[in-house]
Amino acid sequence: MTVKPMVPFALVLEFRSGKLEPHTSRIVRRVSDLRGAFADSAALEALVKDGDPVVYEVLQYDVPEETGQLICCTTVLHSGSVGDEYFMTKGHYHAVRDTAEVYLGLSGQGYLLLMTEEGGISAMPMSAGTVAYVPPRWAHRTVNTGEEPFVFFAVYPGQAGHDYGAIQESGFNQRVRRGTDAPVLR
Ligand SMILES: [Fe+2]
Repeated sequence: MTVKPMVPFALVLEFRSGKLEPHTSRIVRRVSDLRGAFADSAALEALVKDGDPVVYEVLQYDVPEETGQLICCTTVLHSGSVGDEYFMTKGHYHAVRDTAEVYLGLSGQGYLLLMTEEGGISAMPMSAGTVAYVPPRWAHRTVNTGEEPFVFFAVYPGQAGHDYGAIQESGFNQRVRRGTDAPVLR
């Protein structure tokens, strides 16, 4: 496939807030969008009734979703928990499994959880300056274990796509909960 010529562009990214200007799409995920993801569904429904807070936002400057392109976005994952489980993203495999992704931590702190369909498991702590590599075939989900927003930048191939369904069906093989002194990963 030939990529159509495009005009080069530059964006401005504010590390602290994750603000990306300009952006052409903004995805907002609230607690109600994460039904089934958290272990404590009663706590989730209570939060939904109590204003349905935003869990995370993704800002992106869209480019064509095709081979040869690279999609860049920032995610702002807010601080909070559902029961004792920290706020997290839905998590996904790439629809095209043979595509990788690079994450760069900008502010706050959390975990990058990864798994494969064959039972592979990995968890990486992330904070400002962490560059994390998500190899092809690894599902990925981020978790905010701090009191501030956890902000990171991501770059992935244009054709990758998102497969959320596989995670909704299988769940993730790790959870991160509030412990007495530190986050507990299980
Ligand atoms: Fe991804």
